[in-house]
Amino acid sequence: MNENFVQQGAIGLRRRHRMVKLLQVNNLKKHFHLGKNEILKAVDGVSFHINKGETFGIVGESGCGKSTAGRTIIGLYDQTEGEVIFNGKNIHTLKSKERHNFHRQMQMIFQDPYASLNPRSTVREIISEPMEVHGLYPNKQDRLKRVYQLLEDVGLNRNHADRYPHEFSGGQRQRIGIARALALDPEFIIADEPISALDVSVQAQVVNLLKRLQKEKGLTYLFIAHDLSMVKQISDRIGVMYLGHLVELTDSSELYKKPMHPYTQALLSAIPIPDPDIEDQRERIILMGELPSPINPPSGCVFQTRCPMAMEVCSVEKPNWKEVEVNHFLACHLYDKNKTGDHDYSQVAVTR
Ligand SMILES: Nc1ncnc2c1ncn2[C@@H]1O[C@H](COP(=O)(O)OP(=O)(O)OP(=O)(O)O)[C@@H](O)[C@H]1O
Ligand SMILES: [Mg+2]
Repeated sequence: MNENFVQQGAIGLRRRHRMVKLLQVNNLKKHFHLGKNEILKAVDGVSFHINKGETFGIVGESGCGKSTAGRTIIGLYDQTEGEVIFNGKNIHTLKSKERHNFHRQMQMIFQDPYASLNPRSTVREIISEPMEVHGLYPNKQDRLKRVYQLLEDVGLNRNHADRYPHEFSGGQRQRIGIARALALDPEFIIADEPISALDVSVQAQVVNLLKRLQKEKGLTYLFIAHDLSMVKQISDRIGVMYLGHLVELTDSSELYKKPMHPYTQALLSAIPIPDPDIEDQRERIILMGELPSPINPPSGCVFQTRCPMAMEVCSVEKPNWKEVEVNHFLACHLYDKNKTGDHDYSQVAVTR
């Protein structure tokens, strides 16, 4: 088929689907009980939605709860509180048959292509396995044809089918992981730092592959990363996470032009700008201290211990998650006139 035609068709499909919600996450919490009285609040009340055909990025530093959020959404963990609605259905209350079907529609790609593929299985076995589990393509020949097709879809070929993971490079292994995730023809894919373990030179290739597959197959992605420059390239909207909470969420371009939360501003200020003149003059925001422990999170706003703009209220009261501008969600007292007293902090946003 003509590639342009495929692309235009897919873009049209994306536009039509743009405003249809595929996933709604409401006040999701995942707490791990460690010892007698110790509770680790890995995810502590996040809410967002993802529209059909879009890529939603989650960004935040190591340990802030990104993977736990992804794993809870896909049902690998039971949630402590809150709900995950997929295509209008609450996934945690599905009956077993419905749950089985749901698992076909949601797949995950993992960070480490070395660890996530069974070293003793051939590529054919790795990609066939989900189809066997779900009773798809019961005829062996049909299944093999499907494996060949998937290999071609991800830029590999049928000669790779009888080889083992160790015979491939990191980028190729991630392509195998993607082929496996596509085997059940899912609608939604959670990509948990899918390129972080790869050489910089192959990262763009894998991102381009994910973008092409999204267009061709009308996929919806949740793309997890700790590097904002990486999520920007692929995401339509981005949520910034800190210590189990979302602190800011808006369109990808808006987040870069007008970051409002001091944490987002700090993350953005760490990204180098290619123009040396601007790079020399721009202000970097260095965050003091370490990420606090999710076992004993700070009172009030979780970011207050490292926030350069912290006010008295921040250690006492948790800021509400609200839509401060159309499509721009934020949890920060700085933008609440009642909390900032005489100061008008509404201009603190830095424009890039
Ligand atoms: N199964 C588990 N049992 C107990 N604690 C866990 C478990 N999984 C994650 N955690 C803890 O939950 C917090 C969030 O971890 P998570 O892996 O979700 O972070 P992350 O944002 O994905 O980090 P990274 O960028 O390093 O992958 C961390 O403090 C982690 O130690
Ligand atoms: Mg992770």
